[in-house]
Amino acid sequence: MTAPATDSPAPIRDPIRMEDLVALCRRRGFIFQSSEIYGGINGFWDYGPLGVALKRNLKDAWWKDMVLCPPDGPDGEPLSMVGVDCTIIMNSRVWEASGHVGGFNDPMVDCRESKARYRADHLAVLVAREDDGSRRMMAFIEGDDAQREKAGKVLAKYERAEFSPDRYMVRPFTSLARTDLTRVVGPDAKEPGTLTEPRAFSLMFKTNVGALEDASSIAYLRPETAQGIFANFQNVLDSTRVRVPFGIAQIGKAFRNEVTPRNFTFRSREFEQMEIEFFIRPDSAGEWYAFWRELRHRWWRSIGLTGANLVLREHDRDELAHYAKEGAGTCDIEYRFPFTAPGFGELEGVAHRSDFDLRRHAEFCGKGEKMRYFDQEKNERYFPHVIEPSAGADRGTLALLCEAYTPDPSRPSGVVMKFHPRMAPVKAGIFPLVNKDGMPEVSERLHRELRARFAVEHDPKQSIGKRYARMDEAGTPYCFTIDSDTLTNQTVTVRERDTLSQERIALDKVGAFLAEKIGG
Ligand code: GAP
Repeated sequence: MTAPATDSPAPIRDPIRMEDLVALCRRRGFIFQSSEIYGGINGFWDYGPLGVALKRNLKDAWWKDMVLCPPDGPDGEPLSMVGVDCTIIMNSRVWEASGHVGGFNDPMVDCRESKARYRADHLAVLVAREDDGSRRMMAFIEGDDAQREKAGKVLAKYERAEFSPDRYMVRPFTSLARTDLTRVVGPDAKEPGTLTEPRAFSLMFKTNVGALEDASSIAYLRPETAQGIFANFQNVLDSTRVRVPFGIAQIGKAFRNEVTPRNFTFRSREFEQMEIEFFIRPDSAGEWYAFWRELRHRWWRSIGLTGANLVLREHDRDELAHYAKEGAGTCDIEYRFPFTAPGFGELEGVAHRSDFDLRRHAEFCGKGEKMRYFDQEKNERYFPHVIEPSAGADRGTLALLCEAYTPDPSRPSGVVMKFHPRMAPVKAGIFPLVNKDGMPEVSERLHRELRARFAVEHDPKQSIGKRYARMDEAGTPYCFTIDSDTLTNQTVTVRERDTLSQERIALDKVGAFLAEKIGG
């Protein structure tokens, strides 16, 4: 793991505008709306050429730093980690055992007028401060400032009053009494009383496996990668030399039929997780929880998220999942996204899951107590406890994009993506100053030489200024330019993305220069 980009908290800058970032992502091929040519599909996103490279760098760094080359544990021993890659569709009994079938729900509200559907805990209402139980209320989606403002104006018009924020207060929709619903106008409605009471809505995507579409063939797309790990716990023990404490890691897709997907890729219906289930002796949960909490927080900083934009938030008792109630703790690592600022949004959860999952699978598969782990040294059997660091690869990628986006009116591109060099999709641009006079031959040769080791791009066309601007938008840390001097003295110009400094280095030292600056 490389050292954090910075340990001293950087000053908090003004949040960027999400519409600017979304536009850049589309224009430069980071992220596209899925099925865009057919009008898109809500909650699904595709990664373009730059985006796929960025996300792969994130996942590769995670795999390398957590699985292949993790730091020593709190006991001073090297961490024992292995990986798996499990299927998205599993036997439905897995999801009965995990509690997801029947239990993985969000409270949902329908609007009878607009036919829109909202998550009850994402809705708020605006109501007059002097409400006597008869005044109209306007619902809006929390965090949507434009919708909130519109709600305020409509309310003021209805009450034939000047709009003034002081006259109104905001209440969570879930705090309203049933009888209040007749007074509430939905976010996309005109008439009051069209929102239904909250109802449980399953987030599980259902399908059928095989030719018969009946109850016996129902299957689910996994809502988390974790259960594939638990279901293979015994297989991993039997096929490797790992002993407790050890971890099993997996990166893969997960699917949740989110009621209100929103905030770009932050809440999607198809997304990728990077999960570790770390199996420990029950009496060591406290120290391992503290270890993972700290390691995961440090890791996000090591790939370029500044300390000021990251927080570790310990869960309150009433927030804890059923499996974590008696545990060592649960915390979220949160990032200050532009749409949550000045607040934070979850990037990763670190949870003590106790022995809940292994016990449930032992019970549901019928093997019962026989599935307990046998500790040879201590000659005892037990169900190991689990510390689970569970991160989102898409949320991580989004955080990297938000962090990198730096408006700079002095540059032709108007913006520069300041990715940590390890995360940058393209490590270096290689240009001939002009596309003639022997320069392209040299730049092509350099490109061929470097691309076996680094993600580099050769670009011989357009003015040099435009090529630099393209690289600034892609977040490329270095550009090497071959000019007429190269042909006589075998040196090239290196342009550094953040400082804009330019220096000459020997042509045959470019590989070593890149290796020193970005590793590899
Ligand atoms: N196995 C535990 C688990 O799945 P979670 O908090 O529900 O816990 C873990 O999910 C991580 O997965 C989150 O911190 C987030 O980064 C990511 N994630 C969850 N739901 C998501 C969604 N709808 N869209 C994008 N990422 C999501």
